[in-house]
Amino acid sequence: MRNVTVRLHRDFAIGATDPRLFGAFLEHLGRCIYGGIFEPGHRTADARGFRQDVLELVRELAPTIMRYPGGNFVSGYNWEDGVGPVAERPRRLDLAWMSTETNEFGTNEFIDWCRAANIEPMLAVNLGTRGGDAARNMVEYCNHPAGTALSDLRRKHGWDKPHGVKFWCLGNEMDGPWQMEAKTAHEYGRIAHEAAKMMKWIDPSIELAACGSSGRRMATFGAWEDTVLQHTFDHVEYISLHTYLNNYDGGTPAFLASVDLMDNFIDEVVAIADAVAARRRSQKRIMLSFDEWNVWYRTRRNRAARVKEGWPVAPPILEEPYNMEDALAFGGMCISLLNHADRVKAACLAQLVNVIAPIMTETDGPAWRQTIFHPFAHFSRMGRGRVLRAEIDSPTYSARYNDPQGPINDYYEIPAAPYLKLAAVHDDRAGTLTLFALNRSLDEALPLSLEAGGFGTLAVKQALQLADADLKAMNTKDDPDRIAPKSLATVRVQGGKLEATLSPASWNVIQLSLN
Ligand code: AHR
Repeated sequence: MRNVTVRLHRDFAIGATDPRLFGAFLEHLGRCIYGGIFEPGHRTADARGFRQDVLELVRELAPTIMRYPGGNFVSGYNWEDGVGPVAERPRRLDLAWMSTETNEFGTNEFIDWCRAANIEPMLAVNLGTRGGDAARNMVEYCNHPAGTALSDLRRKHGWDKPHGVKFWCLGNEMDGPWQMEAKTAHEYGRIAHEAAKMMKWIDPSIELAACGSSGRRMATFGAWEDTVLQHTFDHVEYISLHTYLNNYDGGTPAFLASVDLMDNFIDEVVAIADAVAARRRSQKRIMLSFDEWNVWYRTRRNRAARVKEGWPVAPPILEEPYNMEDALAFGGMCISLLNHADRVKAACLAQLVNVIAPIMTETDGPAWRQTIFHPFAHFSRMGRGRVLRAEIDSPTYSARYNDPQGPINDYYEIPAAPYLKLAAVHDDRAGTLTLFALNRSLDEALPLSLEAGGFGTLAVKQALQLADADLKAMNTKDDPDRIAPKSLATVRVQGGKLEATLSPASWNVIQLSLN
């Protein structure tokens, strides 16, 4: 491949990454909670039932904010079922995942788990089967200090201090017909507006995210965001986005190119949010919360399949095994998020453990890292700072990506995906410039020449690469480190210039120290 050149300068930044960009998600779904983070009786569990082997991996992964309790689950959830003496909590049918929910784990346990993991909690309220009243009561229970029935109930339950949860989601995917009590944009917009108003009357310091479309392929995408924001504009700070990439066609080049559709999606939602602001002559900017993103296609399920299983407790569902090429697409998604740091202020990898997850566990057994664990850990640990505007001159390729049930047809044409996808993050405090670089060519090494202006002399602090000749290779319980980062030896720097060769189909992280 011909030389790929990148030019950037210290003074030209897209924006600073918000710490909440590096979040993840825990849903009452399959073995995410039960047998995932929570397994009393596991040999590593503490007195609260928190698996310490999982917590150790979570700390290494370094998510910053955690969304809970759903997802589809939240649209039928009574938060009251999950608080108070565990022995008295009801068992309920969960219609989202056709499972039995025991409610052994609830909001207070989640808060404790977040504190143990040093992660900010993000809570979602049920705007499906419930509404503003349940939502405002939940805020009062969690955040009001004392002296009311609900805040004193929390104290009686053993949590004297308020939880101080700042980030709240106003329901989940309310445009999706699979959702319990799905709504039209007008219906949802009204309910979200009223719920938001009351939630903020109770605690004005909270921040709220309204539901955007469940995905760019929804037929109502665009109109949904516009209508919902017209209703909720004055009371919310964020609109949400969800994307799951697939490789249904088995065409890896198209799979890797599909990452660029995430850039399009973000740009489109920004445009709609800003159009709503413009109509109101408002300076307010609605930010984006990309609160579900990942690769997911092998373990998608329909209700008919689930019904046959007879309402199991914590069944092993959505346990997507991730391979090398998934890690590449996933890394590309990290790069998209970084390059929109000016508007995407929160994001949650969906999910954290067992369910479409970077961490896998065996109930009563070990825990290990899936392939996607590695790009996320790099993204979170080295993505803090100012994302610089990079001028990239790379050859491109065209692709056709299959996204079943798209509004217009099942395919997206991607006319020009650059082989190099890159983000550059300058951390002034740490004195580093970190390059995240994906080579999307499956058969050619990519010769990279980069010029970083305004930094003086660069030095290589560390250079890592995730690559494997077998794109289908995975990590398993018996071979947990089959795919793991190795050192990238091809990086040379001189002054403010860098040369490197990126292997075909590789995820690369080059961290430079600045003098
Ligand atoms: O993350 C899995 C599911 O995907 C979530 O419950 C839902 O919000 C989305 O459709």
